[in-house]
Amino acid sequence: MNNLIETLKTTGNLTDSQLQTLLETNAYDAELRKAADAVRREHYGTDVYIRGLIEFTNYCKNDCLYCGIRRSNRCAERYRLTKEEILECCKEGYALGFRTFVLQGGEDPYFTDERLCDIVASIRKGYPDCAITLSVGEKPRESYQSYFDAGADRYLLRHETATPEHYSRLHPSELTFAQRRKCLFDLKEIGFQVGAGFMVGSPYQTTEHIIADLRFLQELKPDMIGIGPFLSHKDTPLRDYPNGELELVLRILGILRLMHPKVLLPATTALGTMHPQGRELGLQTGANVVMPNLSPQSVRKKYMLYDNKISTGEESAQSVRNLTEKVASAGFRVVTARGDAKTAAGRTAKPF
Ligand code: 5AD
Repeated sequence: MNNLIETLKTTGNLTDSQLQTLLETNAYDAELRKAADAVRREHYGTDVYIRGLIEFTNYCKNDCLYCGIRRSNRCAERYRLTKEEILECCKEGYALGFRTFVLQGGEDPYFTDERLCDIVASIRKGYPDCAITLSVGEKPRESYQSYFDAGADRYLLRHETATPEHYSRLHPSELTFAQRRKCLFDLKEIGFQVGAGFMVGSPYQTTEHIIADLRFLQELKPDMIGIGPFLSHKDTPLRDYPNGELELVLRILGILRLMHPKVLLPATTALGTMHPQGRELGLQTGANVVMPNLSPQSVRKKYMLYDNKISTGEESAQSVRNLTEKVASAGFRVVTARGDAKTAAGRTAKPF
């Protein structure tokens, strides 16, 4: 096996210049994939965890330049689910075998802490054996604490890019990397299992930026890392920038698996959107989570973060059987357990 990959596999780390070499050539891709697959098997076998994604509002007060549900996009048809509709999604998801519900939405001021806590508490009461994951953006620490106290146990907040100048070029001036970073550390301190991550091939991104992202993730040590390609959206200011590349997404997935042997690594919807076998390729390069969509069919097309987002095939929760078969033919096995990240001691992170 190649020396660079062997070093990364055995030590979990490389120097910046070694990472640069690895990121900028395809020469190591085959060995990288093999090593990432071996390390993932060592800790997780062939298990693939599934999470039911409920996209409960596409209202957003933010104006991120890449995102299809940014507030300036007048073409986006806005919707929000009621508490009853959200609970209905959970009911359907539970029957399909899901034991993690991910409530994701834009930063919608309608969902005050009080309303969100009420929803979380209702899910917690109805599904005591399930994990509740929130993904609702940047909030004051007290808000995060209230969600945790109401029964949420995980939180996804991608850091998007760990280079402040790059962050500023992708976001409006009121959003900063410093604030993003603070949110992620607040969430960790409160006791959430945390997910971070970034887009691959976002406009202006350089290898240096990606290395900064990898270093930031080494510092944060999240339980989950979500990465996927940047995909342009026609009604955003970044409409003319090229999409991220499959090869690079897979390369970074492999690197992340070797740097974070026990992390939960989703094969994301964006990866599945960019290539018909995108998610299977992700699973074969170290990923071990998929997040099918549990939102009602009527709203799915409205949660368009980027053009052509897939929403009716195996990524829909209703097709969980198709998904299971597809995953099986790629050599893996869908499991319905909560699937907490494994700790160094080999136990799950936070059983209850
Ligand atoms: N392309 C790819 N990913 C995107 N996201 C938002 N807009 C896009 C896009 N145009 C990602 C962001 C966000 C997550 C929910 O979706 O990383 O954190």
